[in-house]
Amino acid sequence: MALTKKTVKWINKLNISLKDKTVLVTGSNSGVGFKTVETALYLGARVIMACRNMEKAEAAREELIKDYPNASIQILQLDLSDFSSIDSFTKNIIDHKIDIDIFVNNAGTFHRPGKTKDGFENVLGTNYFAVYYLSGKILPYLKTLSHKVVYCNTISVVHKMAKIDYDDFYYTKKYNHFAVYARSKLCLAKYTYDLSQKYKESNISVYMIHPGISVTPLGANAFGDFIKQIAGMVKWVFNSPEKSALSLFYVLAKNLPSGSIAGPHILEAWGYPKENRVRKCVKTGADELKVFTDNEIKDIIYKVG
Ligand SMILES: NC(=O)c1ccc[n+]([C@@H]2O[C@H](COP(=O)([O-])OP(=O)(O)OC[C@H]3O[C@@H](n4cnc5c(N)ncnc54)[C@H](OP(=O)(O)O)[C@@H]3O)[C@@H](O)[C@H]2O)c1
Repeated sequence: MALTKKTVKWINKLNISLKDKTVLVTGSNSGVGFKTVETALYLGARVIMACRNMEKAEAAREELIKDYPNASIQILQLDLSDFSSIDSFTKNIIDHKIDIDIFVNNAGTFHRPGKTKDGFENVLGTNYFAVYYLSGKILPYLKTLSHKVVYCNTISVVHKMAKIDYDDFYYTKKYNHFAVYARSKLCLAKYTYDLSQKYKESNISVYMIHPGISVTPLGANAFGDFIKQIAGMVKWVFNSPEKSALSLFYVLAKNLPSGSIAGPHILEAWGYPKENRVRKCVKTGADELKVFTDNEIKDIIYKVG
């Protein structure tokens, strides 16, 4: 399970150390998030894995401990499809004054028909509303810390293809899981860029990172067996989760301006990371996302419920 020689070589060239830093990654029992915490451990960090399934999280920690037996790996429970879980998670961090240097909202879902516990369409609810709700609670706390904080939200290259249509925000007329996913990531990108402006004069730098196209369990339920077989045969074309996890470390090493995006360099889908262009659709219109206060979120719950 150890990092490949290629990754180690690439990461060593960045010349960064995370010794004495704490890195929190949501959804880190699997895929890109797991490789993010593994790489953070390699660089000497303490890590906090924020996961919804404690058994999976414990199994992932066992894997990591094999290579990093002396590492500090804490697990916190977080289910993004349930606002009360986000409340408990953030309260736990704030009440115990848990120190965090790098906070990565990595958890996400691609194809999960149905609704969150609070009544949102599941993909928009998990990928956007939950991160919106969580950020609103945790950022004021992170702002009180006496050191710099890096705050990253995980978007996707497909945000470029998305459209926002308030007449059918949840695709209730004709559900299309790819379009819903893309919309959730465009909303998240707009919101993240907006945050980077709001926190400009603070200790917090806000970034968008993304993995390009990576072979992870993310699409497992979305495609039929035939597509999965084909994908399995050509999976070497896509990024490994390990390579996709490097976007975060690129951000940390290159000291990019707050509001930047880091993702793979080939068509923003493959290869090692670099700075990607922040498109106009990301820089504009966050104020039009009509769900920007806790009360408005609560209103929406009743509207969609
Ligand atoms: N793979 C790609 O090609 C790709 C492309 C663009 C963007 N991304 C983004 O990259 C991020 C990581 O995805 P991945 O590819 O590494 O997929 P993954 O292996 O399926 O990991 C997703 C993680 O998110 C967690 N998660 C899902 N729903 C959650 C919820 N309601 N509450 C808390 N945790 C939840 C999962 O937990 P469980 O294990 O319990 O399900 C898992 O730990 C996601 O934000 C995804 O949208 C991926």
